[in-house]
Amino acid sequence: MAGIKSLDELKALRDKYRENFIGRDTSDSENKIRISVGMATCGIASGARDTINAIIDEVAKEKLSNVVVVQSGCLGYCYAEPTVEVRIPGKEPVIYGNIDANRGRELVKYIKNGEIPKDWIIKRTFNNI
Ligand code: FES
Repeated sequence: MAGIKSLDELKALRDKYRENFIGRDTSDSENKIRISVGMATCGIASGARDTINAIIDEVAKEKLSNVVVVQSGCLGYCYAEPTVEVRIPGKEPVIYGNIDANRGRELVKYIKNGEIPKDWIIKRTFNNI
């Protein structure tokens, strides 16, 4: 393995990994949009792993440094897995159901545009949106 021979090589390496780290940086997370994917057994069985990978990939592609993607445990909605909670600072958290990888990517695009998609909300929990 070749070593790093200059400061420029080191900076290039840093930039490469920084790009891959977008969406995973939890520092200052109270001021960031937080996307939590339910990764309980029922979520994983329903494809939550594909969902979280798609969301992380889309956040990185869109270079959304104000978004952090995390996994959570049981959100209590087995019937609607994979479930995704979106917390936008200063707003009520919203839980979405049946978020497969494609919907996860769409969800990131909505968030990027400052929108809250209403179609996939688990409505019983959020009557005031
Ligand atoms: S076990 Fe499925 S949501 Fe809790």
